[in-house]
Amino acid sequence: MKAIVIEQPGGPEVLQLQERPQPEPAEQEVLIQVKAAGVNRPDIAQRKGHYPPPAGTIQDIPGLEVAGIVAKIGTRVTRWNIGDRVCALVAGGGYAGYCAAPEGQCLPIPANLDFSEAASLPETFFTVWSNVFDRGRLQSGESLLVHGGSSGIGVAAIQMAKAWGATVYSTAGSAEKCNFCELLGASRAINYKTEKFRDVMLQVTEGRGVDVILDMIGGDYTSGNLDILAEEGRLVLINVMRGDEVSMKLSQIMRKRLTITGSTLRARDSAFKATVAANLEKYVWPWLTSGIIKPVIYKTFPLAEAAAAHRLMESSEHIGKIVLLT
Ligand SMILES: NC(=O)c1ccc[n+]([C@@H]2O[C@H](COP(=O)([O-])OP(=O)(O)OC[C@H]3O[C@@H](n4cnc5c(N)ncnc54)[C@H](OP(=O)(O)O)[C@@H]3O)[C@@H](O)[C@H]2O)c1
Repeated sequence: MKAIVIEQPGGPEVLQLQERPQPEPAEQEVLIQVKAAGVNRPDIAQRKGHYPPPAGTIQDIPGLEVAGIVAKIGTRVTRWNIGDRVCALVAGGGYAGYCAAPEGQCLPIPANLDFSEAASLPETFFTVWSNVFDRGRLQSGESLLVHGGSSGIGVAAIQMAKAWGATVYSTAGSAEKCNFCELLGASRAINYKTEKFRDVMLQVTEGRGVDVILDMIGGDYTSGNLDILAEEGRLVLINVMRGDEVSMKLSQIMRKRLTITGSTLRARDSAFKATVAANLEKYVWPWLTSGIIKPVIYKTFPLAEAAAAHRLMESSEHIGKIVLLT
């Protein structure tokens, strides 16, 4: 099969198209003939050598999500049959013609979505579900601030939280991105390059603050995040793009009874991921089927042009998802 291989840690040019043997599915895995594979910011960190795949995962083929057709099934697979249209969360190996995935991490592709749309879902939807709804415990009627609202994660979080019945706010780095976040359902998107999110959020919530913040930025955002959390508020971290070490007023945590939490998805085991998949299928898939929430694809590239896809992602020009087509 054709696969994009990280030849050595480095820039986008280290992504090379090569011939690789097709993987064999384990007992509880399916082999997917990949039609489309989503690109995610963690793939960039992996390419640079900063985000090694867990042991037992293909080490040098990136790709955390795929959509395609089941081509083979392991001996203990019960749900899927050859020919089924599925999308799947994988721990690596997605930028390839074929990819093996645990059966519990596969979801049916809604009939109204094509392969590229379906491939754009798993990594961001699993991450948003497990952080905003599980760890962050967002309730209908509460409010959520999504930093990086135009990211792949952000466009999923805004739509899912809005569909859940929450009031959603976001930050993003341009007027165009902010407009898009508001079209998706944010009540107010804040251009962090021209406005201070802390001041705007205190103003729009009349000093009350927000219930949950989904933060991929960290660093100097942290003290502002604590300032704008409401009583019993939850700060959920999924990355620290502006820095890992922060200064903050710990007394705010006591005074407002705050929770600071976070997680990384890739290292979690298959049982955890299967539970998230089941929740997505139950609560979120009906919203996709009915069109209440929609995949947001910014651009697709042929698999062979994975380096160009990474350059685009690193430019941060995109809104929503970038997808590779095999
Ligand atoms: N913990 C987990 O399990 C998990 C899983 C998946 C993804 N993530 C993280 O979630 C984040 C979003 O992922 P994604 O795939 O949706 O990424 P993405 O589409 O590339 O979006 C990232 C966005 O973040 C904004 N940004 C703000 N500060 C930045 C900085 N210092 N460097 C780069 N970008 C910056 C940029 O938009 P602006 O124009 O608004 O600045 C950029 O478009 C990433 O940090 C990723 O590592 C975490």
